[in-house]
Amino acid sequence: MEKIKPCDFIIFGVKGDLSKRKILPSLYYLEKTNNIHNNTCVIGVGRSKWHKIDYINMIRKSLVTFLKEKINEKIWLKFISRFKFCNLDVYYSDNFIKLKKILDQKNRVSINYCAMPSSTFSAICDGLGKAKINKKTSRIVIEKPLGTNLESYNYINKKILKYFNESQVYRIDHYLGKETILNLLAFRFSNSFFLNNWGNHIIDSVQITVSEEVGIEGRIEYFDKTGQIKDMIQNHLLQILSIIAMESPKNLNTNSIREKKIKIVRSLRKIDYNNINEKIVLGQYTFGKINGINVPGYLDEINLDKNSNTETFVSLRVDIDNLNWAGVPFYLRSGKRLKKKFSEIVIYFKNLPINLFKEFNKKNFQNKLIIRLQPNEGVEMQILNKLPGLKNKYELQLTKLDFNFYRNNEYKTDAYELLILEIMHGIQSHFVSCEELEESWKWIDPIINGCKITKKKPILYKSGSWGPEESNFLIKKDGREWNKYN
Ligand code: BG6
Repeated sequence: MEKIKPCDFIIFGVKGDLSKRKILPSLYYLEKTNNIHNNTCVIGVGRSKWHKIDYINMIRKSLVTFLKEKINEKIWLKFISRFKFCNLDVYYSDNFIKLKKILDQKNRVSINYCAMPSSTFSAICDGLGKAKINKKTSRIVIEKPLGTNLESYNYINKKILKYFNESQVYRIDHYLGKETILNLLAFRFSNSFFLNNWGNHIIDSVQITVSEEVGIEGRIEYFDKTGQIKDMIQNHLLQILSIIAMESPKNLNTNSIREKKIKIVRSLRKIDYNNINEKIVLGQYTFGKINGINVPGYLDEINLDKNSNTETFVSLRVDIDNLNWAGVPFYLRSGKRLKKKFSEIVIYFKNLPINLFKEFNKKNFQNKLIIRLQPNEGVEMQILNKLPGLKNKYELQLTKLDFNFYRNNEYKTDAYELLILEIMHGIQSHFVSCEELEESWKWIDPIINGCKITKKKPILYKSGSWGPEESNFLIKKDGREWNKYN
């Protein structure tokens, strides 16, 4: 890997939630592991007229709250000495001159991390452009929600591409930095066993579940306008799906990977008002209990419009119309306030054409490969083998070949640590391309419109359950069932 160069790492919205929860703790960890160049500066941009000491106190407090370990004072001193601060309202482009004065050398890489709502991206780009600090060596980092539909996405994109080339833009989907997702590439393309047993000749169906215990965590404004389809499916689950289904890339370069992922998104069968009811189930949580604690229903959460039809749960059947996947349904499911937080991919292999052991074992058995994203990142393969011993001729038992990616107590890298490091290295493979996002909006828009046209309403489900019963019917009608989490 290329050696990291010194850079100016600018955080727009340094006092915001994303910065406190993810960016600052990740930078600290990269500091601890000596992954930041000694001459790198971090510039925190905030709107109110704070003094340096207020910023420092805020950073310290966020680390105390969000670091997975105690602050090491020696590392803290090195870390905080990198920081400079700039009070700047991004809506006043003239102010960006202040930032320019702080950024020193001409050809130094500058990373502009927009940790603010997407409504500010355009102002940030204008400001950087006006102050001429959108240099060839600059990078811009943006994060969802990147638009609310194809049109608004195109608008944001156009604005960004007015000031930056595609090779300078890093669109974050933090799922792409998760250990299991990175492992998926390694797993699929470095093992001949999986490479050759992947596709409709051998796989029956695929399930992707991202189940959350949390509700909307105070993000009422954002979530009520967004809903689970756009919050989770349009980005995270589609990313997982495309990595599971993509063909082998020529190499691990950004363009090779992107090219193969886009092909999958383009091959997704359309879901619109014609077939929406047979393909999708929506749900909304009501009052219930999670881990023994009472939690309010979606509509009871402060200030919410009592008539809101926003979905907090979705399950759907997706088909990929290409030669490798035709006939293999992908079932996607994601919801808030469900019984347990877990995310997994389950690959079901086809039944054998003949059961040679039926005299001893009547049950039909399907080999299953479970790839766990969280918790216990790892892989489980379910196979049958003969029960040992003389009295068992051919009685079979189910065995799980199971391994975790991490060893006991090993530090679990956060997705943001990896992604920030990649940005510093200038590697875009784990970021979403402009084209891929455009394709994903093209696929999602008819779903959202279909829900509107057919006046599809979410079905209520109790917090702490697995979502509405109808989600089970969706898959049962195809003769399958959701993998039971244990
Ligand atoms: C975010 C969504 O992108 O991902 C949240 O906006 C969701 O609503 C979160 O809770 C889930 O991420 P993770 O890493 O906790 O699975």
